[in-house]
Amino acid sequence: MIMHQPISYAYLETTNYCNLSCTFCNRDEVVKKLKHMSLMDWELVLEKLKNQPIKEAKLMGLGEPFLHPKFSTICKMFKDYFPKAFLIVATNCQYKMNDNFKDSLKYIDLLYLSIDGYKESYEKFRPPSKWSKLINFLEEIKSVERHNCRITCNYVVNTENIIDISKIEQLCDDYKLEELRLNIAQDWSEDKSLSNTDHISGYSLEQIEYLKENYSKNIKGKAPWTWSDCFWVKTGIYMTVEGNLKVCALNTDTVSIGNIFKDPIDKILNSKRMNEIREGCTKNIPSKHCENCSYKELSPILEKLIKQ
Ligand SMILES: C[S@@+](CC[C@H](N)C(=O)[O-])C[C@H]1O[C@@H](n2cnc3c(N)ncnc32)[C@H](O)[C@@H]1O
Ligand code: SF4
Ligand code: SF4
Repeated sequence: MIMHQPISYAYLETTNYCNLSCTFCNRDEVVKKLKHMSLMDWELVLEKLKNQPIKEAKLMGLGEPFLHPKFSTICKMFKDYFPKAFLIVATNCQYKMNDNFKDSLKYIDLLYLSIDGYKESYEKFRPPSKWSKLINFLEEIKSVERHNCRITCNYVVNTENIIDISKIEQLCDDYKLEELRLNIAQDWSEDKSLSNTDHISGYSLEQIEYLKENYSKNIKGKAPWTWSDCFWVKTGIYMTVEGNLKVCALNTDTVSIGNIFKDPIDKILNSKRMNEIREGCTKNIPSKHCENCSYKELSPILEKLIKQ
Protein backbone atom coordinates (compact mmCIF):
# COMPACT_ATOMS: atom_id res chain seq x y z
CA MET A 1 0.00 0.00 0.00
CA ILE A 2 1.24 3.51 -0.84
CA MET A 3 1.37 5.74 2.23
CA HIS A 4 0.80 9.50 2.30
CA GLN A 5 4.16 11.24 2.18
CA PRO A 6 4.97 14.17 4.48
CA ILE A 7 2.90 17.26 3.65
CA SER A 8 4.67 19.74 1.37
CA TYR A 9 1.56 21.68 0.24
CA ALA A 10 -1.09 22.94 2.64
CA TYR A 11 -4.32 24.80 1.86
CA LEU A 12 -5.56 26.18 5.15
CA GLU A 13 -8.79 28.05 5.80
CA THR A 14 -8.75 30.39 8.80
CA THR A 15 -12.11 32.05 8.17
CA ASN A 16 -15.22 31.13 6.22
CA TYR A 17 -16.79 34.59 6.46
CA CYS A 18 -17.36 36.18 3.08
CA ASN A 19 -18.95 39.36 1.78
CA LEU A 20 -19.74 37.94 -1.69
CA SER A 21 -21.65 35.09 -3.26
CA CYS A 22 -19.76 34.42 -6.47
CA THR A 23 -21.68 32.44 -9.07
CA PHE A 24 -18.82 29.96 -9.71
CA CYS A 25 -17.96 29.32 -6.03
CA ASN A 26 -19.68 26.54 -4.08
CA ARG A 27 -19.26 28.31 -0.71
CA ASP A 28 -23.01 28.80 -0.24
CA GLU A 29 -23.57 25.04 -0.48
CA VAL A 30 -20.74 24.10 1.85
CA VAL A 31 -20.46 26.73 4.58
CA LYS A 32 -23.06 26.34 7.31
CA LYS A 33 -21.71 27.97 10.46
CA LEU A 34 -19.57 31.09 10.22
CA LYS A 35 -16.29 31.06 12.05
CA HIS A 36 -12.96 32.88 12.36
CA MET A 37 -10.27 30.57 13.73
CA SER A 38 -9.01 31.78 17.12
CA LEU A 39 -5.29 32.49 17.44
CA MET A 40 -5.13 29.78 20.09
CA ASP A 41 -6.52 27.19 17.69
CA TRP A 42 -4.24 28.47 14.94
CA GLU A 43 -1.25 27.91 17.22
CA LEU A 44 -2.47 24.35 17.81
CA VAL A 45 -2.77 23.78 14.05
CA LEU A 46 0.76 25.05 13.49
CA GLU A 47 2.08 22.89 16.33
CA LYS A 48 0.45 19.86 14.72
CA LEU A 49 1.96 20.71 11.33
CA LYS A 50 5.37 21.91 12.45
CA ASN A 51 7.27 18.73 11.54
CA GLN A 52 5.81 18.59 8.04
CA PRO A 53 8.11 19.89 5.29
CA ILE A 54 5.64 22.50 4.03
CA LYS A 55 7.13 24.29 1.00
CA GLU A 56 4.03 26.10 -0.16
CA ALA A 57 0.83 27.12 1.61
CA LYS A 58 -2.37 28.89 0.69
CA LEU A 59 -4.08 30.61 3.60
CA MET A 60 -7.57 30.66 2.18
CA GLY A 61 -10.60 28.49 1.64
CA LEU A 62 -14.28 29.16 1.24
CA GLY A 63 -14.14 32.65 2.69
CA GLU A 64 -12.46 36.01 2.34
CA PRO A 65 -9.16 35.71 4.28
CA PHE A 66 -8.86 39.43 5.10
CA LEU A 67 -12.22 39.46 6.88
CA HIS A 68 -10.43 37.61 9.67
CA PRO A 69 -9.81 40.49 12.10
CA LYS A 70 -6.35 39.13 12.98
CA PHE A 71 -5.29 37.94 9.56
CA SER A 72 -1.92 39.69 9.66
CA THR A 73 -1.13 37.83 12.92
CA ILE A 74 -2.29 34.58 11.28
CA CYS A 75 0.23 35.19 8.47
CA LYS A 76 3.00 36.20 10.87
CA MET A 77 2.51 33.09 13.00
CA PHE A 78 2.61 30.91 9.90
CA LYS A 79 5.91 32.46 8.81
CA ASP A 80 7.34 32.10 12.33
CA TYR A 81 6.76 28.35 12.08
CA PHE A 82 7.60 28.01 8.39
CA PRO A 83 10.02 30.82 7.46
CA LYS A 84 11.03 29.18 4.19
CA ALA A 85 7.57 28.27 2.96
CA PHE A 86 6.10 30.23 0.05
CA LEU A 87 2.88 31.83 1.25
CA ILE A 88 0.01 32.56 -1.14
CA VAL A 89 -3.26 34.36 -0.37
CA ALA A 90 -6.18 35.42 -2.60
CA THR A 91 -8.51 38.30 -1.92
CA ASN A 92 -11.72 39.62 -3.45
CA CYS A 93 -10.74 43.31 -2.85
CA GLN A 94 -14.31 44.17 -1.81
CA TYR A 95 -13.57 45.90 1.49
CA LYS A 96 -11.88 49.02 2.66
CA MET A 97 -8.16 48.62 2.93
CA ASN A 98 -6.88 48.67 6.51
CA ASP A 99 -3.78 47.91 8.60
CA ASN A 100 -4.73 44.23 8.80
CA PHE A 101 -4.24 44.09 5.01
CA LYS A 102 -1.14 46.27 4.89
CA ASP A 103 0.66 44.38 7.70
CA SER A 104 -0.12 41.01 6.11
CA LEU A 105 1.95 41.96 3.06
CA LYS A 106 5.10 41.63 5.20
CA TYR A 107 4.53 37.88 5.37
CA ILE A 108 2.75 36.99 2.11
CA ASP A 109 4.93 36.04 -0.87
CA LEU A 110 2.23 36.09 -3.53
CA LEU A 111 -1.16 37.79 -3.39
CA TYR A 112 -3.85 37.10 -5.98
CA LEU A 113 -6.41 39.82 -6.54
CA SER A 114 -9.50 38.00 -7.78
CA ILE A 115 -10.94 39.91 -10.73
CA ASP A 116 -13.03 37.99 -13.24
CA GLY A 117 -14.57 40.41 -15.68
CA TYR A 118 -14.91 44.11 -16.39
CA LYS A 119 -17.55 46.40 -14.82
CA GLU A 120 -20.94 44.73 -15.51
CA SER A 121 -19.60 41.21 -15.90
CA TYR A 122 -17.37 41.60 -12.82
CA GLU A 123 -20.45 42.53 -10.78
CA LYS A 124 -22.52 39.80 -12.43
CA PHE A 125 -20.22 36.93 -11.46
CA ARG A 126 -19.27 38.30 -8.03
CA PRO A 127 -22.55 39.56 -6.53
CA PRO A 128 -23.01 41.83 -4.63
CA SER A 129 -19.61 43.32 -5.50
CA LYS A 130 -19.19 46.82 -6.83
CA TRP A 131 -16.74 47.73 -9.58
CA SER A 132 -16.22 51.11 -7.89
CA LYS A 133 -15.05 49.36 -4.69
CA LEU A 134 -12.54 47.34 -6.68
CA ILE A 135 -11.17 50.49 -8.31
CA ASN A 136 -10.86 52.22 -4.92
CA PHE A 137 -8.96 49.21 -3.63
CA LEU A 138 -6.63 49.23 -6.64
CA GLU A 139 -6.03 52.96 -6.22
CA GLU A 140 -4.95 52.32 -2.62
CA ILE A 141 -2.74 49.42 -3.70
CA LYS A 142 -0.76 51.81 -5.88
CA SER A 143 0.74 53.54 -2.86
CA VAL A 144 0.87 50.67 -0.38
CA GLU A 145 4.27 49.31 0.71
CA ARG A 146 4.36 45.86 -0.91
CA HIS A 147 7.42 44.62 1.02
CA ASN A 148 8.45 41.44 -0.84
CA CYS A 149 4.93 40.51 -1.76
CA ARG A 150 4.23 39.98 -5.46
CA ILE A 151 0.73 41.08 -6.40
CA THR A 152 -0.98 39.47 -9.38
CA CYS A 153 -4.49 39.13 -10.77
CA ASN A 154 -6.36 35.80 -10.72
CA TYR A 155 -9.13 35.63 -13.33
CA VAL A 156 -11.61 32.74 -13.35
CA VAL A 157 -12.55 32.29 -17.00
CA ASN A 158 -15.99 31.27 -18.20
CA THR A 159 -17.67 31.42 -21.59
CA GLU A 160 -19.20 34.85 -20.90
CA ASN A 161 -16.23 36.77 -19.52
CA ILE A 162 -13.59 35.81 -22.13
CA ILE A 163 -14.39 39.03 -23.91
CA ASP A 164 -13.19 41.10 -20.95
CA ILE A 165 -9.76 39.54 -20.53
CA SER A 166 -8.00 42.18 -22.64
CA LYS A 167 -9.51 44.99 -20.54
CA ILE A 168 -8.25 43.37 -17.36
CA GLU A 169 -4.83 42.97 -18.97
CA GLN A 170 -4.82 46.76 -19.34
CA LEU A 171 -5.99 47.15 -15.73
CA CYS A 172 -3.04 45.02 -14.59
CA ASP A 173 -0.68 47.39 -16.41
CA ASP A 174 -2.36 50.48 -14.98
CA TYR A 175 -2.13 49.21 -11.41
CA LYS A 176 1.21 47.40 -11.65
CA LEU A 177 -0.14 43.91 -11.06
CA GLU A 178 2.67 41.60 -12.09
CA GLU A 179 0.78 38.93 -13.93
CA LEU A 180 -2.66 38.06 -15.27
CA ARG A 181 -3.34 34.46 -14.25
CA LEU A 182 -6.19 32.80 -16.09
CA ASN A 183 -7.90 29.87 -14.41
CA ILE A 184 -10.52 27.99 -16.35
CA ALA A 185 -13.50 27.74 -13.96
CA GLN A 186 -13.69 24.45 -12.09
CA ASP A 187 -16.48 22.71 -10.24
CA TRP A 188 -15.49 22.10 -6.64
CA SER A 189 -18.23 19.62 -5.70
CA GLU A 190 -18.11 15.83 -5.51
CA ASP A 191 -21.28 14.91 -7.34
CA LYS A 192 -21.39 17.58 -10.02
CA SER A 193 -19.55 17.56 -13.27
CA LEU A 194 -18.53 20.56 -15.37
CA SER A 195 -20.70 19.36 -18.24
CA ASN A 196 -23.74 20.15 -16.05
CA THR A 197 -22.58 23.69 -15.49
CA ASP A 198 -23.43 25.55 -18.68
CA HIS A 199 -21.52 28.81 -18.46
CA ILE A 200 -18.23 27.16 -17.54
CA SER A 201 -18.19 24.38 -20.07
CA GLY A 202 -19.21 24.68 -23.70
CA TYR A 203 -16.52 26.98 -25.10
CA SER A 204 -16.97 27.60 -28.82
CA LEU A 205 -14.16 26.78 -31.26
CA GLU A 206 -13.63 30.52 -31.79
CA GLN A 207 -13.24 31.07 -28.04
CA ILE A 208 -10.73 28.22 -27.74
CA GLU A 209 -8.76 29.61 -30.69
CA TYR A 210 -8.89 33.16 -29.25
CA LEU A 211 -7.63 32.01 -25.82
CA LYS A 212 -4.91 29.88 -27.36
CA GLU A 213 -3.63 32.55 -29.71
CA ASN A 214 -3.65 35.39 -27.18
CA TYR A 215 -3.42 33.98 -23.68
CA SER A 216 -1.83 30.55 -23.81
CA LYS A 217 0.98 31.67 -21.49
CA ASN A 218 -1.43 33.13 -18.92
CA ILE A 219 -3.52 29.98 -18.56
CA LYS A 220 -2.72 28.02 -15.42
CA GLY A 221 -3.05 24.28 -15.02
CA LYS A 222 -1.41 21.09 -16.11
CA ALA A 223 -2.31 19.08 -19.18
CA PRO A 224 -2.46 16.29 -20.04
CA TRP A 225 -3.49 15.26 -16.54
CA THR A 226 -4.87 12.09 -15.10
CA TRP A 227 -5.65 10.83 -11.61
CA SER A 228 -2.22 9.27 -11.11
CA ASP A 229 -0.75 12.80 -11.49
CA CYS A 230 -2.65 14.03 -8.44
CA PHE A 231 -0.23 15.43 -5.84
CA TRP A 232 -2.96 16.07 -3.27
CA VAL A 233 -3.36 12.41 -2.33
CA LYS A 234 0.39 12.06 -1.83
CA THR A 235 1.73 15.32 -0.41
CA GLY A 236 -1.13 17.82 0.00
CA ILE A 237 -3.81 18.67 2.52
CA TYR A 238 -6.85 20.94 2.77
CA MET A 239 -8.12 22.15 6.15
CA THR A 240 -11.41 23.92 6.91
CA VAL A 241 -11.79 26.54 9.65
CA GLU A 242 -13.19 23.83 11.97
CA GLY A 243 -9.96 21.87 11.59
CA ASN A 244 -11.58 19.27 9.36
CA LEU A 245 -9.10 17.78 6.91
CA LYS A 246 -10.16 17.08 3.36
CA VAL A 247 -8.16 15.44 0.62
CA CYS A 248 -8.00 18.42 -1.72
CA ALA A 249 -9.37 21.85 -2.60
CA LEU A 250 -11.06 20.47 -5.71
CA ASN A 251 -13.70 18.63 -3.73
CA THR A 252 -14.74 20.96 -0.93
CA ASP A 253 -18.21 19.53 -0.22
CA THR A 254 -17.04 16.00 0.58
CA VAL A 255 -17.05 14.54 4.11
CA SER A 256 -13.80 15.14 5.91
CA ILE A 257 -11.22 12.44 6.54
CA GLY A 258 -10.58 13.55 10.13
CA ASN A 259 -10.08 16.54 12.40
CA ILE A 260 -6.68 18.05 13.09
CA PHE A 261 -7.62 18.92 16.71
CA LYS A 262 -8.83 15.41 17.51
CA ASP A 263 -6.60 12.94 15.69
CA PRO A 264 -2.89 12.59 14.89
CA ILE A 265 -2.20 13.78 11.34
CA ASP A 266 -0.43 10.59 10.27
CA LYS A 267 -3.42 8.56 11.36
CA ILE A 268 -5.78 10.73 9.29
CA LEU A 269 -3.56 10.73 6.22
CA ASN A 270 -3.33 6.96 6.27
CA SER A 271 -6.90 6.19 7.31
CA LYS A 272 -8.93 3.57 5.41
CA ARG A 273 -10.87 6.15 3.36
CA MET A 274 -7.81 8.21 2.54
CA ASN A 275 -5.92 5.06 1.49
CA GLU A 276 -8.77 4.02 -0.80
CA ILE A 277 -8.90 7.46 -2.41
CA ARG A 278 -5.11 7.46 -2.88
CA GLU A 279 -5.05 3.94 -4.26
CA GLY A 280 -7.83 4.82 -6.73
CA CYS A 281 -5.80 7.74 -8.03
CA THR A 282 -2.55 5.82 -8.20
CA LYS A 283 -4.16 3.02 -10.22
CA ASN A 284 -6.17 5.45 -12.34
CA ILE A 285 -9.39 3.84 -11.16
CA PRO A 286 -10.90 6.86 -9.38
CA SER A 287 -12.92 6.38 -6.21
CA LYS A 288 -16.26 8.17 -5.93
CA HIS A 289 -14.41 11.11 -4.33
CA CYS A 290 -12.41 11.71 -7.52
CA GLU A 291 -14.79 10.64 -10.31
CA ASN A 292 -15.79 14.20 -11.19
CA CYS A 293 -12.41 15.79 -10.54
CA SER A 294 -12.17 19.13 -12.36
CA TYR A 295 -8.47 18.64 -13.11
CA LYS A 296 -9.43 15.56 -15.12
CA GLU A 297 -12.43 17.20 -16.75
CA LEU A 298 -10.43 20.26 -17.72
CA SER A 299 -7.49 18.30 -19.07
CA PRO A 300 -8.80 18.03 -22.68
CA ILE A 301 -9.72 21.74 -22.70
CA LEU A 302 -6.33 22.75 -21.27
CA GLU A 303 -4.54 20.55 -23.79
CA LYS A 304 -6.13 22.66 -26.52
CA LEU A 305 -5.38 25.96 -24.76
CA ILE A 306 -1.82 25.51 -23.59
CA LYS A 307 0.72 25.56 -26.40
CA GLN A 308 3.13 22.67 -25.85
C1 LIG B 1 -12.18 30.45 -2.99
S1 LIG B 1 -11.37 31.95 -3.21
C2 LIG B 1 -10.95 32.46 -1.58
C3 LIG B 1 -10.33 33.83 -1.53
C4 LIG B 1 -11.23 35.02 -1.79
N1 LIG B 1 -12.51 34.90 -1.25
C5 LIG B 1 -11.31 35.33 -3.27
O1 LIG B 1 -12.37 35.20 -3.87
O2 LIG B 1 -10.27 35.70 -3.79
C6 LIG B 1 -9.75 31.53 -3.83
C7 LIG B 1 -9.59 31.67 -5.32
O3 LIG B 1 -10.35 30.66 -5.94
C8 LIG B 1 -11.00 31.18 -7.08
N2 LIG B 1 -12.18 30.36 -7.37
C9 LIG B 1 -13.36 30.33 -6.71
N3 LIG B 1 -14.20 29.45 -7.27
C10 LIG B 1 -13.53 28.90 -8.32
C11 LIG B 1 -13.86 27.93 -9.31
N4 LIG B 1 -15.06 27.35 -9.35
N5 LIG B 1 -12.94 27.61 -10.24
C12 LIG B 1 -11.70 28.19 -10.23
N6 LIG B 1 -11.33 29.10 -9.30
C13 LIG B 1 -12.23 29.47 -8.38
C14 LIG B 1 -11.32 32.61 -6.66
O4 LIG B 1 -11.54 33.44 -7.78
C15 LIG B 1 -10.09 33.00 -5.88
O5 LIG B 1 -9.11 33.57 -6.73
S1 SF4 C 1 -14.84 33.07 -4.61
FE1 SF4 C 1 -14.10 34.06 -2.75
S2 SF4 C 1 -15.30 35.91 -2.64
FE2 SF4 C 1 -16.38 34.60 -3.99
S3 SF4 C 1 -17.89 33.54 -2.71
FE3 SF4 C 1 -16.07 32.24 -2.91
S4 SF4 C 1 -14.88 32.72 -1.14
FE4 SF4 C 1 -16.35 34.41 -1.37
S1 SF4 D 1 -10.69 15.12 -6.64
FE1 SF4 D 1 -9.24 13.43 -6.34
S2 SF4 D 1 -7.97 13.44 -8.18
FE2 SF4 D 1 -9.00 15.41 -8.07
S3 SF4 D 1 -7.57 16.77 -7.02
FE3 SF4 D 1 -8.95 15.91 -5.49
S4 SF4 D 1 -7.90 14.12 -4.73
FE4 SF4 D 1 -6.93 14.66 -6.63
